[in-house]
Amino acid sequence: MRQVEELMRIQADEHHPELRAALHQLLGAGGKRIRPTLGLLVGNMLGADHGKLITLAAAVELLHTATLVHDDLIDGALLRRGNPTLNARWTPAATVLTGDYVFARAAKLAAETDCLPLMRLFAETLAIIVNGELTQLFTSRGVASRENYEQRIYAKTASLFEMSSRAAAMISPVNEDTVKGMQNYGYQVGMAFQIVDDILDFTGEQSEVGKPVGSDLLQGLITLPTLHYIQNHPSDPDVIHLMDGKFNVERESMLRLVQSIRTSDAISQSLSEAGKYVDEALGALADMPVGIEKQALEDLARYIVDRRL
Ligand code: IPE
Ligand code: IPE
Ligand code: MG
Ligand code: MG
Repeated sequence: MRQVEELMRIQADEHHPELRAALHQLLGAGGKRIRPTLGLLVGNMLGADHGKLITLAAAVELLHTATLVHDDLIDGALLRRGNPTLNARWTPAATVLTGDYVFARAAKLAAETDCLPLMRLFAETLAIIVNGELTQLFTSRGVASRENYEQRIYAKTASLFEMSSRAAAMISPVNEDTVKGMQNYGYQVGMAFQIVDDILDFTGEQSEVGKPVGSDLLQGLITLPTLHYIQNHPSDPDVIHLMDGKFNVERESMLRLVQSIRTSDAISQSLSEAGKYVDEALGALADMPVGIEKQALEDLARYIVDRRL
């Protein structure tokens, strides 16, 4: 990870000083680094080339960072990783361009793995993420469908976890079945991760999570805890407001609904669904080579549902 951090940090060195400052601020704020960790563990477990693996891990985390820069601008979010976002301090123009720059650096690093299928996967994953954000932007306010929810969390989160894990296997001396197995592991962990992210939006503390909480519902975004709550309490007047698309005019009602959901069975029901994805992830690891990396990947899958941030 130290090598990954260094490789990310030097990406703006020869360019505009403002960019360099922005990149240092972005990376200095930390973050869990869960996607590169996943890639490093999979690659080390399967015997990937060391240099390529570091490069891949840095590419994945920079891609993630770039999507966050644009996402916070789109969402008007002012806090990320406990720090002010770029858009909190800069103009939209400067923020968009910085995000683009980070995307470009991520793509360059992906190319440096010299693996054409990996480059293709990188580009396809970015397209899936962007398509997911567009879908959310245009259609999914107030949509209470499980299918829509699963598509959204795949696009915004599981796709990149899947890519990190699959790409690390792609640069390792293993057969296609193992690559598919690791793709599946990343997918399952990513789905669980986003469900827990959606739970933390209800149950988390801003000081721990490092970003504003309780905000999905206030923006009319229906996630798994809300889906369960709707099913359990279809005639709650606050649910009816939400289903009628009145989330932005009935703010009091939405704040009350956040409280109701936070203290309801919907939370444990959602957590148990995340647990099922974790079990699938552990299953995908079953045939992998025994060692500390496999152990760590098992721990990582379990950490997903225990985390507070
Ligand atoms: C945040 O991801 C965006 C989502 C897709 C939920 P993380 O929770 O991994 O954010 P950092 O990188 O640790 O800040
Ligand atoms: C951001 O999605 C993740 C992307 C990959 C675009 P959200 O807007 O739902 O996540 P947070 O709450 O800002 O981290
Ligand atoms: Mg956001
Ligand atoms: Mg968003």
